[in-house]
Amino acid sequence: MRRRADRGAALADPRERARAAIREASVTTTDNTLFPVPADFAKSALINDDTYQKWYDRSITDPEGFWGEHAKRIDWIRPFTKVKDVSFTGDVHIKWFEDGTLNVAANCLDRHLDERGDQTAIIWEGDSPDESEHITYRDLHERVCRLANAMEGLGIKKGDRVTIYLPMIPEAAVAMLACARIGAIHSIVFGGFSPDSLAGRIQDCDSNVLITADEGLRGGRKVPLKVNADKALETSWSVKHVIVVKRTGGDIHMVSGRDYWYHDLVAKASPEHKPAEQNAEDPLFILYTSGSTGKPKGVLHTTGGYLVYAAMTHQYVFDYHEGDVYWCTADVGWVTGHSYIVYGPLANGATTLMFEGIPNYPDSSRFWQVVDKHKVNIFYTAPTAIRALMREGEGPVKKTSRQSLRLLGSVGEPINPEAWLWYHSVVGDGRCPIVDTWWQTETGGILISPLPGATALKPGSATKPFFGVKPMIVDAAGGELTGATEGNLCITDAWPGMMRTVYGDHERFVQTYFSTYRGYYFTGDGCRRDEDGYYWITGRVDDVINVSGHRMGTAEVESALVAHPKVAEAAVVGYPHDIKGQGIYAYVTLVNGVHPSEDLRKELVGWVRKEIGPIASPDLIQWAPGLPKTRSGKIMRRILRKIAANEYDALGDISTLADPTVVEDLVDNRMNRV
Ligand code: PRX
Repeated sequence: MRRRADRGAALADPRERARAAIREASVTTTDNTLFPVPADFAKSALINDDTYQKWYDRSITDPEGFWGEHAKRIDWIRPFTKVKDVSFTGDVHIKWFEDGTLNVAANCLDRHLDERGDQTAIIWEGDSPDESEHITYRDLHERVCRLANAMEGLGIKKGDRVTIYLPMIPEAAVAMLACARIGAIHSIVFGGFSPDSLAGRIQDCDSNVLITADEGLRGGRKVPLKVNADKALETSWSVKHVIVVKRTGGDIHMVSGRDYWYHDLVAKASPEHKPAEQNAEDPLFILYTSGSTGKPKGVLHTTGGYLVYAAMTHQYVFDYHEGDVYWCTADVGWVTGHSYIVYGPLANGATTLMFEGIPNYPDSSRFWQVVDKHKVNIFYTAPTAIRALMREGEGPVKKTSRQSLRLLGSVGEPINPEAWLWYHSVVGDGRCPIVDTWWQTETGGILISPLPGATALKPGSATKPFFGVKPMIVDAAGGELTGATEGNLCITDAWPGMMRTVYGDHERFVQTYFSTYRGYYFTGDGCRRDEDGYYWITGRVDDVINVSGHRMGTAEVESALVAHPKVAEAAVVGYPHDIKGQGIYAYVTLVNGVHPSEDLRKELVGWVRKEIGPIASPDLIQWAPGLPKTRSGKIMRRILRKIAANEYDALGDISTLADPTVVEDLVDNRMNRV
């Protein structure tokens, strides 16, 4: 790797250096702003520059040998003899370690008991700073065994789909692991989703069990999970059993013969359970995620390859050492929570922190207070949280010590250099490398990221591919672009953690990921590669937007809007938002005779919240008497994106529109918004 002249050499204090970089860079840094691996970090790092290159080269030239060896990091009941059977064309299929058998829960729990039964597996930090709990591996094992027995007692068996709609409480991890233990497939639905969204996800996978709680607690406010679940179940007949965790003690209705208190079930169940022998390609979980079109897709992950990949990336990307306290602030409702709160860390015997609350409750110092309280060494969060905290200034950070921190991580959306530099200099006191990890629900684990002992960092770049990952940048026609370039990001070969199919719709899997660029996995992201071979993710190139690190299909928000009786038509696009990364901008055409008003605007925002959930609330609604369409009736989103971003000079060719005057009208009314 080429190292640029260290222009900060005169500034020996890393904090000063980072501050100088912020001053110089203001919002943008250049490809030349390099942060070398700190010498003391490099000394004890698991992977250094040489190892990275050696391992990476081997993983590409001899993937079978490489993965065959690294898969031994987990315990197999029956060892595999075949490593890989993959085709990205024709009959698209992805199989890893296909004749091996294992159990994920046994890998995350049982195998640690002799060596670290009394070590903390999960530190749970409640919404209120007064509540926290340490759960040892032995205790977690017992809780999981009890629930596994209780579930089997209800007749739940291998292959059943179990929907989990829980807040960030230890029972969420217990429920995931109990499913894995008996071979049931979990499908977690984020607690912020509406009853309708929950119902859609239950129905799509024909789930027969729901595990929920009376209420959730976030930032001191209650989330009516059971009430939402009851509404969802009015239209979801497949669910036969509902297991309810008592979190707040709120007043809820229990349906006799259908609803059971979690605590009653587990109290009666045996604390011993023999884990099911699962095939490496048996499903582990389904997780719904938004795409360009249609309903959210049920991304299916399987057992062996997923666990190998989640555990290995967790160890090397976070340079995880025995005894480290590791905290990922995600929710288990998202893939980050699956791979990097539960499966990866627990497979590695780590201590993983689970946080029920939010960054600014009771005040915006909370993250750092939790870091000090539990002596967190590795901290992994999203750029949107960093930007929101950055707005509060350095005060809330500086009143805490954060001396325990060794490494910082970022995930979910591109991190703007200004936020990166603030994270580095203010939160990390210039001491801690930042791993900017690029990946997706579909990829199961991190694909592009620095390895902190090996990679010099560039603020805003996810840097280099992980072992076994072959990125390729293509032009619109699918031609490979080489060298320093920019285009669409594909991955040319499989890695063990990748999704296997869309649950119940393999054709949609093939269409979505392997047909745009035949024979390659298309990520949906734009990407630039600089002259040092560093990758810079530029954001989605499809109709998916990324709001506060949450993925949202514009089509989903549009369908919610047009379901309102006063809306004739709607088009939704993303626009740059200071805190959220992207905001939701909706152009709405009202039914003839309905007049726009502030009240109606509020009503529509509330309507979308109710239909999908608060994360889908439009930030701005612009009344649009007409939408720019081609003569064949296709909405020209490119133009709508530009208007939303206030980029009126770059509207491009509008002569192909059926009615070009619509655009003038929209531009004139741009100020007329929420
Ligand atoms: O656009 C990329 C963005 O998030 C998308 C994946 O979203 P999701 O499936 O919800 O998973 C999020 C957590 C893994 C990607 O297509 N994204 C994720 N991480 C980064 C990112 N964009 C830039 N830099 C990242 N580090």
